[in-house]
Amino acid sequence: MPLKSKSTGKLISFEGSEGSGKSTQIARLAAHFQQTHHEVLSVREPGGTEIGEQIRNIIVHNSKGDEMCAETELLLFAAARAQLVREIIAPALARGAIVLSDRFLDSSTVYQGIARNLAADPVAQINRFAVGNVMPNVTIVLDVPTKVSLARLKQRASDLPDRMERENVDFYDKVREGYLLLAKGMPERFIVVDGTKSEDAVAKKIWAAVQTRLK
Ligand code: TMP
Repeated sequence: MPLKSKSTGKLISFEGSEGSGKSTQIARLAAHFQQTHHEVLSVREPGGTEIGEQIRNIIVHNSKGDEMCAETELLLFAAARAQLVREIIAPALARGAIVLSDRFLDSSTVYQGIARNLAADPVAQINRFAVGNVMPNVTIVLDVPTKVSLARLKQRASDLPDRMERENVDFYDKVREGYLLLAKGMPERFIVVDGTKSEDAVAKKIWAAVQTRLK
C-alpha cells in the first residue's frame, strides 16, 4: 500500500529495555499534549492493530518460543510494524495527529540486530521496507542499568515472564548499549533520558526536550 508523502502530524517513539518506564512516560506525555493538541494517539509495538496483536501473541507468548529463530522474529516484528504504519500511524499523521509509539523500528535494530546478532544491513533494509517513509520525528530512549530494569520486571511480574523477558543479563546489557550507540549516531533524532530518576523528573525532562525538538 503506498504511503502519502506529506503529513502534518508528528511521530514520537519511545525506546528502552523492559522496565524502563515507557508506558508511564507515554501516558504523561500524552496528557501534556492533550492540553494543546486536538488529536493525540498512543500505539504500541508489536501490536496496535488486530493483525499486529495476533503477531504479538506468536512472538511473545508462544510456548514454542525457544524454537523461533532470530530471522523469523525480525520478520514478524516487521510485519506487525508494516500493518500498524499503514492502518493507524500514517493516516493519523496525515490528519495532523501527535502519535506516541511504544517502540518502533529502533527496537528491531537493537533487539534483533545488536542483541540477537543479525547482520545490520538486512535488518536496516527490512526496517525501511516495513515503515516506508514514516520515520519518528523524535525518539526518546529511557536509559536504565540492566540491574534496575530486571529488578523492576521482577517486581511487576504477576505471572511467569514472557519469552522475551526470559533473556539473560548479557542480552539486556547489549540492548542498553545498542540504544546508547544508536542515539550517539543520530543525535538529531534521539533524546536519551535517565530512567532511574523519579517519574516526575523524567516526565519534566521529556516534555522540555520534546518541545525544543518539535519547535
Ligand atoms: P514490551 O511490550 O514490554 O515493549 O515487549 C515487547 C518485547 O518485544 C520486548 O522484549 C522488546 C521486543 N521487541 C523486539 O525484540 N523487536 C522489536 O522490533 C519490537 C517492536 C519489540
